[in-house]
Amino acid sequence: MIHYTNQTEALTASQLTGFFVGWPSPPSPETHLDILKGSYRVVLATDSDTGQVIGFVNAISDGVLSAYIPLLEVLMEYRGRGIGSELIRRLQVLLEGLYMVDLVCDPELEAYYTRLGFSPLLAMTRRDFDSQSGRKPGPKAR
Ligand SMILES: CC(C)(COP(=O)(O)OP(=O)(O)OC[C@H]1O[C@@H](n2cnc3c(N)ncnc32)[C@H](O)[C@@H]1OP(=O)(O)O)[C@@H](O)C(=O)NCCC(=O)NCCS
Repeated sequence: MIHYTNQTEALTASQLTGFFVGWPSPPSPETHLDILKGSYRVVLATDSDTGQVIGFVNAISDGVLSAYIPLLEVLMEYRGRGIGSELIRRLQVLLEGLYMVDLVCDPELEAYYTRLGFSPLLAMTRRDFDSQSGRKPGPKAR
């Protein structure tokens, strides 16, 4: 059975294996845990048989006007069962009342997010691939 939660207090890195498929330099499970704990809101899908997280989505936000959804992923063997859609729907409930809720996706996912209430918009982006696995310490890093 799939269980959904927005609580991360008891979450451990060992429950977060198998994500960031295809990323050349993926965050470790420990860094993934830091990402989730540092997020404004999170929804996790867990397989109650194994206790493993099998899908997640997170939002970062100022809590007043805007939120951004940086990551959504469902483990390969659990895809196509509505879990990703349910994660987004539950996250949208947690973000209700905010003016802007934005995300960036590849063109092939446009129809997916349109079905979930999003609209296409031009986005500008910059990526530092040296930091793909997590922020590197530097003079400006806090
Ligand atoms: C996108 C993702 C989260 C969807 O999770 P999911 O649990 O399979 O989603 P749902 O079951 O709710 O919906 C499945 C639908 O997603 C759509 N979809 C998912 N990935 C797609 C892709 N790469 N291209 C086109 N459609 C896609 C399809 O419409 C699919 O419909 P189908 O089941 O009839 O084939 C999952 O495929 C995933 O983790 N992908 C890798 C990470 C990723 O791309 N994240 C999104 C970043 S913006």
